[in-house]
Amino acid sequence: MDLRIRPRRNRRTGALRALAQETRLVPDQLILPLFVVPGERREEPVAAMPGVVRLSPDLLAVRAEKLAVRAVLVFGVPDRGGKDATGSTAVRDDALVPAAVRALRRARPELAIITDVCLCAYTDHGHCGALGASGAIDNDRTLGLLARMAEVHAAAGADLVAPSAMADGQVRAIRERLDGSGFAETGIVSYAAKFASAFYGPFREAAGSRPAFGDRRAYQLPPANRREAVRDALLDEAEGAEWLMVKPALPYLDVISDLRAASRLPVAAYQVSGEYAMLKHAAAAGALDERSAAMESLLAIRRAGADAIVTYYAEEAGQWLDR
Ligand code: PBG
Repeated sequence: MDLRIRPRRNRRTGALRALAQETRLVPDQLILPLFVVPGERREEPVAAMPGVVRLSPDLLAVRAEKLAVRAVLVFGVPDRGGKDATGSTAVRDDALVPAAVRALRRARPELAIITDVCLCAYTDHGHCGALGASGAIDNDRTLGLLARMAEVHAAAGADLVAPSAMADGQVRAIRERLDGSGFAETGIVSYAAKFASAFYGPFREAAGSRPAFGDRRAYQLPPANRREAVRDALLDEAEGAEWLMVKPALPYLDVISDLRAASRLPVAAYQVSGEYAMLKHAAAAGALDERSAAMESLLAIRRAGADAIVTYYAEEAGQWLDR
């Protein structure tokens, strides 16, 4: 035992710990998801996600004025009547998300606006693409719909579009469409490594996007497969993505770390609804100190290699960091 060497010397005081701190979290790195519903003056709490609400575009604009974040990720949640077999309301330029983007842009011109590009909230069957004759998702037919959806989001003023349908070739299809229609400056956040996860449960209540039959294992990544995640992500980089994203975050820190090493693109991680709900419910039951547990989770996601984090805690964490 050689007690001349004592790692604890670097941990003795707060100032010494701060000097040696390897990873930091700053509010600029946080992205807040927002759910938008049609109509006016609608504000609906999401029961499974304490503190999260769905807002109509007018109230979203009001909220945006006092929003404590610099970046948002927008999800459209159409009513039942806005859903059909191919998710056709997703590609109309007067659709929900374009309206929300315009309202946000007016209220906060400098906000970084990212939009989710996926059909699951817009299809009556709740899957992420159009169904083919066999009843399975038709990958190639889905590509055109996703490209059109991305185009209407870009036309409304989105800075980045984020395809999350896990369709093969979706990044290339979107890049080509954006470039061909005058939106060469709009970037793509690829949900490159999106796993078929049980942690999306509360989101599916928020977005009304639970599949009516089956599950998403035929297109989302198998939770057991780390190499496959890197392969999928590198394809998305080659197709022209500006960002790679890993989702969920905390159960997949190894994948965040792998992507950080495998690519020079910025890497984002999505602390998903189930991760948020676990923290909220455990804190409400008195089992965890919410603030410390949430901040430790976010810092761990940064330490694994994420440059930015999508989190329902974005505003609260930003305030905790500023204090
Ligand atoms: C799919 C999508 C999902 C989430 C974001 N985009 C869910 C799914 O694949 O069912 C989940 C986000 C969360 O759980 O917070 N468009």
